[in-house]
Amino acid sequence: MTVLSGKNILLGVTGGIAAYKSAFLVRLLVKKGANIKVVMTSSAKEFVTPLTLSTLSKNEVFSSFTKEDEDSDGCKEPQWNNHVDLALWADFMLIAPATANTLSKMAHGACDNLLLAVYLSAECPVFYAPAMDLDMYKHPTTAQVFEKLNSFGNIQIPAVFGELASGLVGQGRMAEPEDIVSFLEKDILEKLPLKGKKILITAGPTYEAIDPVRFIGNHSSGKMGYALAETAASLGAEVILISGPVNLKLDNAFIKIEKVTSAAEMYEVAHKYFSDCDIAILSAAVADYKPAEVASEKIKKKEGTMSIELMKTKDILLSLGDIKKDQFLVGFALETENEEENAKLKLKKKNLDLIVLNSLRDEGAGFGKETNKVTLISKDNKMLPFPVKHKSEVARDILEYIIDAAQTGQPNLQLFRTLETQLKEFVNNTTWTDRTYKNQERIDCNMSLVISSMDGDNFTATLQVQSSRPTFDSTYDSPVYNYFDRQVSFRYKEFEPLNFNITTFESNLVSVVAFHIYTIIGLDADTYVENGGESYFQTANQITNTAAASSYPGWKAADGNQSRYRYNEAIISSVYKEYHEALYGYHRQGLDVMSANPKEAKQKINDAI
Ligand code: CTP
Repeated sequence: MTVLSGKNILLGVTGGIAAYKSAFLVRLLVKKGANIKVVMTSSAKEFVTPLTLSTLSKNEVFSSFTKEDEDSDGCKEPQWNNHVDLALWADFMLIAPATANTLSKMAHGACDNLLLAVYLSAECPVFYAPAMDLDMYKHPTTAQVFEKLNSFGNIQIPAVFGELASGLVGQGRMAEPEDIVSFLEKDILEKLPLKGKKILITAGPTYEAIDPVRFIGNHSSGKMGYALAETAASLGAEVILISGPVNLKLDNAFIKIEKVTSAAEMYEVAHKYFSDCDIAILSAAVADYKPAEVASEKIKKKEGTMSIELMKTKDILLSLGDIKKDQFLVGFALETENEEENAKLKLKKKNLDLIVLNSLRDEGAGFGKETNKVTLISKDNKMLPFPVKHKSEVARDILEYIIDAAQTGQPNLQLFRTLETQLKEFVNNTTWTDRTYKNQERIDCNMSLVISSMDGDNFTATLQVQSSRPTFDSTYDSPVYNYFDRQVSFRYKEFEPLNFNITTFESNLVSVVAFHIYTIIGLDADTYVENGGESYFQTANQITNTAAASSYPGWKAADGNQSRYRYNEAIISSVYKEYHEALYGYHRQGLDVMSANPKEAKQKINDAI
């Protein structure tokens, strides 16, 4: 198993002397387990025959837009070679050798042969291995072509120094086939989405011994877990597969298999590896009960019935959910009734990030089958149903979901939604002032809180608050406040009420928000009544001082003592007296009377500015 195993590679061969090496290249890639289709330019055929490449690749070789097939009457019927289909088939395209002519056409969008049409249709990664004489390679036009192609996201496999077709020695020689293959492998490996991640997977049944020859087991084949392990490894993960007794074989350098028999052994091994893992997927069908006592000798049959006393095994998934830190924990739920409800209960009870539900009532799902039909249920109870698929495709769906969830930093979307709702309620349901506003006096306020990081209950966010007031007798609003705070830190626990009190510090989040609200109301009052904001600024200042006096570090400036909102202290000091007056002059005496008395209004605005 290599990173190239099963990959569909479209090899483009162009007309340079190095084209003869493409035969070796095809052989090496096939040996690595890749599926190869070759597209050649017509001049490439002068250097290597399509027959050679089709024999080695075990596939038809394409070189023109049409092909001619003989029908049963011996007539030739031209058929179209669909370049889009070829491009779609490919996991990636490799153009080797890539001549200066083809590269230049690729850079400029020319499309006068099938290879170029496929290149233009390809959405997959494109690698190219240039091959040309040293002066051509050094030419500034070539450098520009490389730059352009690389800027499109194409990946260059640099030419090497050596003897060239011209007899000269220099850079321009196509990289050797072995080196091209290593380049591909390294590049693919580095870009795999699970590169550097450790995944623990449990698979198969467990056997709970009754006596030395008998056990309690179940029909789990382990196929789902093994498919998960192989897919995770092919996506770059380092996998620890803890497998119960199954009839499956795996040989993959990226998968470490730990074979266990009983639930107790599986528990021990899972705990040994869990703390070091990034993701854990528990797909094993672990026995829920085991014989309370294991007979040391084979139990002899007797007359009448017999019963075995059973005791509970330890729930591995539950125990991992209990101790998990940053791990993404996935469980399986195999249900026969009330599927959704039961799965959601397990998700919550076992503290999972995702549960994979399969119902025994669904055709195509269940033990021993090659296929499965699953519904993914995320932590915020979102359901994502899939049709019946082969277990390896199901594995890919599950892992892709996990990759997406990890990339979007989606530990618990519900938590953010709850926070948003609670904040909205807090802002909109608190009576901030006994001042009454007529409809046309209502100020607009937008607040955006973008969480930049979180660690447990501790959050850091950027807060932007904007506010504008309506201008009298006009359709315009004029801004009164625009504040960016890039470092708001606060503690928040989901569903904990956002209490607010002017004289006591409840939480940094409510204090910060309340501070901004009072400042906005104050500034708006300043625009309406001369020095009208005074009492609101005093309140904002009181909130600031209370918060600064608390032990919570979020309100401290870098020097550790001062309030971060010293701006507010300035606002209530006499230094800002003229600023308050200017607000009144600019808005109330200026903008508000603009339509009635433009001359005087402009004068007031001028004075204010
Ligand atoms: N599981 C586990 N250890 C156990 C039992 C279950 O790790 N002792 C894991 C399974 O691997 C699966 C999930 O828990 O990922 C759900 O198992 P399931 O048997 O469906 O649920 P239970 O919690 O055992 O509940 P019940 O059997 O009553 O449905």
